[in-house]
Amino acid sequence: MKRAFAFLATVLVLAGCYREQRPVKAPPAASGVADRSYAAREDTAVVNRYEENAFAVSQGKTWFRAYNCNGCHASGGGNSGPALMDATWRYGSDPASIFTSIAAGRPNGMPAFGKRVPEDQIWQLVAYVRSMSGQLSGSVAPSRSDSLYPGEPESRREPEQPKGEAPPAER
Ligand code: HEC
Repeated sequence: MKRAFAFLATVLVLAGCYREQRPVKAPPAASGVADRSYAAREDTAVVNRYEENAFAVSQGKTWFRAYNCNGCHASGGGNSGPALMDATWRYGSDPASIFTSIAAGRPNGMPAFGKRVPEDQIWQLVAYVRSMSGQLSGSVAPSRSDSLYPGEPESRREPEQPKGEAPPAER
C-alpha cells in the first residue's frame, strides 16, 4: 500500500513538470512566404515557436558562427555590425523585424541572407539573436559555451528592455 502510494505520488509530481516544447517544423510565421519578398514582415504579433525549443536555439547559435555573423557582430557584442546583446535596436527587436534584418539585409552593411540560408535556419537564428539579450526563457537559451567566453551564458542574461518598445509579453 505504501509503495503504491509512493508510486502514485511520483506520477503526480512528474505529471506536474513542464516539458520543453520541441516543434520540429518551421514556425507558422514562416509559411506562406514563398515569394521571398519579405516586404511586410514587421508584424510584431508574429510568434517564433523556435523560442520555446532549446535545440532550435542552439542550432541558431551554430549557424551564427557557421555563417560568420560573428565576424561582424563579435559574439553579439558588436564590431563593424551593431551589438545584438544590448537594449538598442536600429530596426526592431521583435522576431519578425529580426527575420527581415537577416533575410533582406539592412542598408548600412548588413548582407541579405534570404537567398542563401533556408528559412528554417533564419528562424533559428532569430531565436538565438533574441537569446543574446536575455529575451528567451533561461531553460531554452544556450548555457555556457565550450569555447572561452568571458560573459554570462545566454541562459543567464538579464532580459534587456528594448529601448522605446513595449515590454515583452509575460512568458
Ligand atoms: C559583413 C558584416 C556583417 C555580417 C556578416 C552580418 N552582419 Fe548583421 N549587421 C551588419 C551591419 C553593419 C548592421 C547594421 C546595418 C544598418 O544599420 O543598416 C547589421 C545589422 C544586423 C541586425 C539588426 C540590428 C538592429 O539593431 O536592428 C541583425 C538582427 C543582424 N545584423 C543579424 C545578423 C546575423 C544573424 C548575421 C549572420 C547570418 C549577420 N547579422 C551577419 C553587419 C553584418
